[in-house]
Order: sequence, then structure tokens, then C-alpha cells
Amino acid sequence: MTMKNDWFSSILWLLTLELIGGTFIPTCVVRHSSPGHEMNTMSERLYIGIDLGTYQSTVMSSEGVMTTIETVVGKPKDPVARNFLGRDVVFGEDAIKHRLACNLFRPLEHGVAQDDEENLSAAKAFVTHLIENCDPEEYDEVLGVICSPSHISFTDKTNLVSILRGLVNGIMVVSEPFAVAFGLDQIAGSIVVDIGAGTTDIARIYGTFPTDEDQVTIEEAGDWLDHRLMDLINKKYAGAQLTQSMVRRWKEEGSYVSDDSREFMVDLSVDGKKQTVDIGDLVRLACNELVPHIVEGVKHIVAGADPEYQSVLRNNIILAGGGSLIEGVADRVAQHLADIGDVTVWCAEDPVVRVADGALKLAGAMPDEMYTSIE
Ligand SMILES: Nc1ncnc2c1ncn2[C@@H]1O[C@H](COP(=O)(O)OP(=O)(O)OP(=O)(O)O)[C@@H](O)[C@H]1O
Ligand SMILES: [Mg+2]
Repeated sequence: MTMKNDWFSSILWLLTLELIGGTFIPTCVVRHSSPGHEMNTMSERLYIGIDLGTYQSTVMSSEGVMTTIETVVGKPKDPVARNFLGRDVVFGEDAIKHRLACNLFRPLEHGVAQDDEENLSAAKAFVTHLIENCDPEEYDEVLGVICSPSHISFTDKTNLVSILRGLVNGIMVVSEPFAVAFGLDQIAGSIVVDIGAGTTDIARIYGTFPTDEDQVTIEEAGDWLDHRLMDLINKKYAGAQLTQSMVRRWKEEGSYVSDDSREFMVDLSVDGKKQTVDIGDLVRLACNELVPHIVEGVKHIVAGADPEYQSVLRNNIILAGGGSLIEGVADRVAQHLADIGDVTVWCAEDPVVRVADGALKLAGAMPDEMYTSIE
């Protein structure tokens, strides 16, 4: 477990930018209306909340747009593929569908060197595509609150600004757990556990932006679970031909934590031969193994809090992110935390869109001075 994170430093960094002269000043951007579109005559402002996730990303706008796309970009491998696809770049499901004709990029994936040109250009294309869902060109001003993976380093935050230049007028970067708590109206006192694909981010929230000390990031999350399950299947069924996306799909269909195993039949290819096998016990094992890592992180976050707040925090532990969809996970985390006293653990509804929802709510609630102009 590593004390993180870049989040707060990123906020500080952006605020510092403001202090040294980058304060957001609302502007009126003159836009050219395309034929058939009327030019806006009033100064209209659009707020957007963006969750740039390792595995999937969501954008929500103050005009009611909500889109989630797998964070994957496909570029045709050669002119034949380009001709067949009819486009220079494809995203999300389209990219996955045409993966054999494309070079695939997961520009926000954990461990990817974000600074290389190809990933950066894929990230830019992806974020542009995501934001275009909100028709930003229809508005005079676009202000965005953005949450991006916690492993993205300081240099990459500079990249984030360069990626967003020309798409939005002002941005604010916040941590995923804070956005979740804000969206759920739980910033007075809570612990948010965002179980994503690349990382699990755990933070205590007590009315203000969390500091470095208020948050831990652990590597045990959805991808870790996929790899763990893949190892277990490989051990039990030697010669099984597996990809992470197959295993992820099985995990999403059948994930649960429990003391007893249940049956979960899947079709496997073993050395090219189809076999239908039961992986229920292995899914249970892998999911159960995730829990102690989360529990250790939560204990650390409780222990470091002001003693007078600990009871409030212990009794409002919120699980979010795709990993919180594991059946029974809140109860099991609560059971494992019983030795630190009374606890209440609950799962946020629609956990995958909680970050973007909170980011959008923050976008509308924050004063202009909190944004950094990136024009
Ligand atoms: N029913 C489910 N059971 C278990 N895991 C699930 C389920 N549904 C989705 N997931 C997993 O949740 C993860 C995606 O969650 P989420 O969208 O919160 O991650 P992300 O935001 O892309 O990642 P990160 O926050 O680490 O950048 C994936 O690993 C996915 O397989
Ligand atoms: Mg996430």
C-alpha cells in the first residue's frame, strides 16, 4: 500500500497556476455557426463532469448528456483497414469489435508510459470524442471538472491540460473519492472506497478537499482481480486459452464473495478444444482475496483520522466504482472491519457513473475562481 497521491498536489498545482496569473476569467467565445445551426446570442455556459477511467470513462453534462465509453482507441493498421473502417480512429466498443484491423491503445491504462506520442495522441482523440458527445461547440463557455486515474503523474497533468486545450475553457481536477462523496451529498463525514479497474482509491472526507494524508491508493482492484482469476483458472485447467477480456466478462457476470462456493459454468478453450467447466469456486476465491486489501486500506484511513471523527467515518463507508458490484462485498468488508468497532458499509447506486455525477455537481457548485483557464 502506498500513500498517495497526486490528486491533491494536482489541485494545489492548478490553484498555484491560478495564483501565478492563470485565474479563470469568464470569456465569451465567438463561434462560427454551421449551416442549419443558429448562432447563440446569449452567453451560454455548459458544465461537464468527466471521469477518465483506466477501463471506462464517463462524461455528464448540465444539459443531461451521460455517456460511458470503454477507454480504448483503435487506429487502422494499414490503408486496407482504413478503407474498410472508413475512419482514421475508432473508440470504445467499435475499437474492440475491430481489434484485429486496428492497433489498440488504452491511453489511461495503469503502467502505460503516458508521455509517448502515440498514447498522447490516442488520449487526445479519446477525450475529444468523449466531450463531443456534449456538443460543446453549441455553447459560449465550457467548464469541466475532471477526475483522472491517480497514477497519472505530474507531467501527465500537464498533458491533461494540453489534451483539453481548445475543448473546454476552464478546468478543475479533483480526486475520484471526493467527487463521489460530493455527488452523494456525503462530504460531511465519510470514507469513500472507489474500486476501479486500475486502482482502489480510499479517502476520508470531512467537509473539504482531502489532503495527501487523507487518501491511500492500492493496486488491488478490477484488473488485479482479472489477473488473479486468470492465474487460478490456468492452474486448475492447464492449457486453457484465456484473454483478460474473457475473464473480465466472466467476473462481471458471476462475481461474489461468500464462505460457500456456487456453480458458475463457462466455455473454455483448452489447447483448441472446447470444454464447459465450473469456475464458481475460483471466482469466489479471487473476489474473497480482494477484501483484506480493501479492509487494510480502510483501517489505515480510520486510524489516521481525528479520534473524535473516527466513529462518524466508520459508520459511513461508501463503496463505489465497478468493483463495488461484487455481490456481497459491503457485508464482507463490514465483517472484516468488525474488530475496529461499529461500522456501516454501503454501496452507492449506479457505481460506475458516481464519479462523473459528482464531478458535474461540483462543476455547477464551484465559484469561477476555482477553475483554471486553459485557453
Ligand atoms: N459486476 C461486477 N463485478 C465485479 N467487477 C465488476 C463488475 N462490473 C464491473 N466490474 C469491474 O469494475 C472495473 C471498472 O470499474 P470503473 O469503471 O469504476 O473503473 P475505472 O474508473 O475505469 O478504473 P480506475 O478508477 O481504476 O481508473 C472493471 O475492472 C470491471 O471489470
Ligand atoms: Mg474510476
